[in-house]
Amino acid sequence: MTAGIDDIAIYIPRLYIDAADFAEARGLDPVKLQKGLGVSQMAIVDANQDPACLAANACLRVMEKNNLDPQDIGRLYISTESAFDESKAMNSYVIGMLEQVYGQGSFEHCGGVETKFACVSGSYALYDNTNWIRAGEAEGKSALVVVSDIAKYDMGSSGEMTQGAGAVVMLLNDKPRLLEFDPKVTSTSIKDEYDFYRPFGKETPIVHGQYSNLLYMIQVRKALESYKKKVISSNLIQMKEGETILDHMDYINMHLPYSNMGKKALAYLVRHEWRQLPRWKNILEQIGMKEPVPKDPRGTIESVLADEEFMAKDHEFTKLFTKTQEYQDVFESKLSSSLIASTMIGNLYTASLYLGFRSSLEFEYQKGVDLDGKRIGFGSYGSGSSAMVFSGVVQPEYAEIVKSMNLESEIGQRRRLTWSEYEELHENKLAPEQSKVHTKKEFVLVDIKTDVESRGERRYAFTS
Ligand code: CAA
Repeated sequence: MTAGIDDIAIYIPRLYIDAADFAEARGLDPVKLQKGLGVSQMAIVDANQDPACLAANACLRVMEKNNLDPQDIGRLYISTESAFDESKAMNSYVIGMLEQVYGQGSFEHCGGVETKFACVSGSYALYDNTNWIRAGEAEGKSALVVVSDIAKYDMGSSGEMTQGAGAVVMLLNDKPRLLEFDPKVTSTSIKDEYDFYRPFGKETPIVHGQYSNLLYMIQVRKALESYKKKVISSNLIQMKEGETILDHMDYINMHLPYSNMGKKALAYLVRHEWRQLPRWKNILEQIGMKEPVPKDPRGTIESVLADEEFMAKDHEFTKLFTKTQEYQDVFESKLSSSLIASTMIGNLYTASLYLGFRSSLEFEYQKGVDLDGKRIGFGSYGSGSSAMVFSGVVQPEYAEIVKSMNLESEIGQRRRLTWSEYEELHENKLAPEQSKVHTKKEFVLVDIKTDVESRGERRYAFTS
């Protein structure tokens, strides 16, 4: 049985901090954010928003847009790394909110859980729900998989310039209009690591930034190796002499903690794939330097990062590689459109990859490209750490969905925060009723109880 993404909706908070204001306040060169990281604006949640209401707002949009009734939905999964409860799953909060609109008990048949594995958990949730449909368990119903996060780092930390927030919901079913997933090729890699983690009770993560960058690329490459074997053995793709698996992906969507991480990761994957092919000789001639090797080629990530001479040379080599016309063509045609939304919104952790997917569809369609039948590869990564590589094919009815995508109007009118407003929100100094924006027909957080008996209980309202 086929299964895939039928429709997709987003909810992005309207407040944002501009990269120029951020750089000025932190004494940084704004070019580091804008060009070095690819960050122009970072969405920031209001005082009356949490990841559950971002998720519920995205769900309501996809339900209303498709005239769905709660009975049409068989499962509702939420993937997040911004959980605020150690036991009660976030999908239960979302169902509570949706039932304020659709009626008490209207979703009681709808099973689901909250999944966690840093930024990759949404991909696991998509895979599991796709298999629920393929197994024939869905009985004609659809699944909603929501990825929702608030990417928030400590004040003054290097991660603070890669924040953001938002939710993406994907409607999955057996007649997907947007993308059908390729069967039996989804591949994973996993390793116990501490590149980025958030111990109990801590609102912000502990991050080893450069370590996490390198680990991300290594893990995705491992998953890609396994994907390649599955694709060949299952005959999904016939590879000819001198080709790489990436030649068979029309688009490549990467996990985007900041938009330039997508560029870095693509360059890493392409470089490792091309190295084994005849075309590499020509690339090396253009680069004009030998490909550097670490002093200890079998060393650890730490030893590679500590090898300053290698890191500097490798950086230079990568920069020259990314300037070659051959690489530029891959970048422009397969990745560039997926980065546009990330630059405007920032890091969405679990949702970053899927915001990128949506961005790619919208901006490629606007270029006039016919997307029908195009194969999209996904490189998903979650710290801690696991990667997943999978693919899917754009369906003939895709234009029905993509033609009405409009990132700017879906975000709505945005409000640029002053630095002191940003600090107040970051340090949780405002109560929900002190929110900066007054929204209509949206779910908002009203109260979090503090008394001993009901500490942590959250109340939400649907604004009129
Ligand atoms: N003008 C232009 N460019 C500049 C510049 C300037 N003045 N100053 C620096 N740059 C460039 C650098 O050359 C670099 O570009 P390249 O990557 O192409 O070399 C880029 O700007 C960033 O500079 P640094 O590497 O020096 O930045 P940093 O070390 O201060 O911080 C970071 C970058 C490590 C990503 C940090 O923001 C961070 O820790 N972020 C959180 C962790 C993270 O996002 N990790 C990503 C992978 S893990 C993951 O993805 C899981 C997850 O979602 C969190």
